[in-house]
Amino acid sequence: MARPVIIRTPEAMQEWSRQMRAQGMTIGFVPTMGYLHEGHLDLMRIARQQADLVVISIFVNPLQFGPSEDLDRYPRDLEGDLDKAASVGVDLVFAPTARDMYPEGFQTSVDVSELSKPLCGAKRPGHFRGVTTVVAKLFNIVLPHFAVFGRKDYQQLQVIKRMVRDLSMNLDILEGETVRESDGLAMSSRNAYLSPEERSQATVLYRALTRTRQAVLDGRVATPEEAVRMAEDIISSAPLARIDYVECLDASELVPRDDFSRPMVLATAVFFGKTRLIDNILIPATLKGSQG
Ligand code: PAF
Repeated sequence: MARPVIIRTPEAMQEWSRQMRAQGMTIGFVPTMGYLHEGHLDLMRIARQQADLVVISIFVNPLQFGPSEDLDRYPRDLEGDLDKAASVGVDLVFAPTARDMYPEGFQTSVDVSELSKPLCGAKRPGHFRGVTTVVAKLFNIVLPHFAVFGRKDYQQLQVIKRMVRDLSMNLDILEGETVRESDGLAMSSRNAYLSPEERSQATVLYRALTRTRQAVLDGRVATPEEAVRMAEDIISSAPLARIDYVECLDASELVPRDDFSRPMVLATAVFFGKTRLIDNILIPATLKGSQG
């Protein structure tokens, strides 16, 4: 398939989108930080099915990295990304520079205050402000009719949906399932950092999540607190795993609950060496005390 067109500046991107919209074309958008894997391609396929034109962005957003995080070593491969994007029928790649996105004097941010607080928000101060700011800006530049985000970044997805709702942004948010390797590890650009030993132990995340969910559904685990303890015990059985957090929170408000009468999300972040992996699983409301 033909390689997608690349546009580098916000002005040219916005102009292209305006023209396409004027011609009655629908635009589906998948924002990424590049180093594309099957998880990203899956989101692009969803966009391809529903839009006349598929735009992706490739931009490693400095605003969402903390001072001691992996901004400088974040993996990049624009050539490989263009081939992969072409293979799923992407029409256009928007790949701006940080200078174009954040020119001198840039000082505006978007903050989804409460949903950004727990989980990764507590461990990575300012991270979600960086995400919502860049995503709001990308929406204004790409002018999509819809954008697609993966459920692997569960909190990010909730934060973005709330931003779109709260600010009456004129687009739909579609969701893609977490895409996993055959042994269950959630696909992530950061998996590239793992040593072979870390890679083989990293399967413990999904094992902990699925076993704990099953224990809740079987009635062997009665409270979110017990679920967290069970998942922590399983993850700790991997000698190279260092838990950043395991939490079980209300799936839509991301706040603690005493029981499983509402849908909950069991979410975790675990370090293997310097590499921080995240994963999550939804636990439906159990029948007892369920609000339907
Ligand atoms: O999920 C990501 O890759 C990033 O957080 C996003 C949404 C592209 C914003 O930089």
